[in-house]
Amino acid sequence: MSVQIAPSILSADFARLADEAKTLEGTADWLHVDVMDYHFVPNLTLGAPVVESLRKATSLPLDCHLMIDDPDRWAVSYVEAGAANVTFHAEAARDVVATARAIRAAGARAGLALKPATAFDDYREVLPEFDMLLVMTVEPGFGGQAFMAEMMPKVAQARRFLRDSDAQLWIQVDGGVAADTIEICARAGADVFVAGSAVFGAHDPARAVTALRERAQTAIPSGAS
Ligand code: DX5
Ligand code: ZN
Repeated sequence: MSVQIAPSILSADFARLADEAKTLEGTADWLHVDVMDYHFVPNLTLGAPVVESLRKATSLPLDCHLMIDDPDRWAVSYVEAGAANVTFHAEAARDVVATARAIRAAGARAGLALKPATAFDDYREVLPEFDMLLVMTVEPGFGGQAFMAEMMPKVAQARRFLRDSDAQLWIQVDGGVAADTIEICARAGADVFVAGSAVFGAHDPARAVTALRERAQTAIPSGAS
């Protein structure tokens, strides 16, 4: 398991996205791009044209988190816009396997996101079709919400499943991940950490990424692979 940090631009200055991304090059592993449509979540952010512009503006790989209805229809357009990973919500998709296959066939990694109320068990069979599982640690829709520690058993369940299977999956957590919560996520088995306000709300975002990474690395159980 190696720690990866994915700062979420939801907490960045949307008028200066290129500059905000650049400050994290060489420090962050991904740029997490939250796509919201006013339907799946009660908030609206950005779509594929902005992803396309970000792709040209930064060398950071883009991790698109689709919080939209009908991802079956739209997911591939985010790959075409330049996303290296496209994650969509299980609750919103009609056919999670077909959508994962379409994302991979278009050339990106595929991620499956679970809202807090969605059980891991309902999706374990489809996980071989994915490269990443996103366990939401807040209700999707807004940055700056309180971390839901009660999601840690779901993370641990996913990690146990991986140890007993051949699936090669990253386990991402998103929502309320900060200096005081990243360690319990790492201990539970997460290895990709999204952080919005904890990075872009910091005086020095690049330093905040480094500090988060160090905390997660020291918390990962020894011998974890
Ligand atoms: C919430 C988004 C998150 C959000 C996290 O629906 O998916 O990526 O930006 O923000 P923080 O880290 O502030 O909770
Ligand atoms: Zn997100």
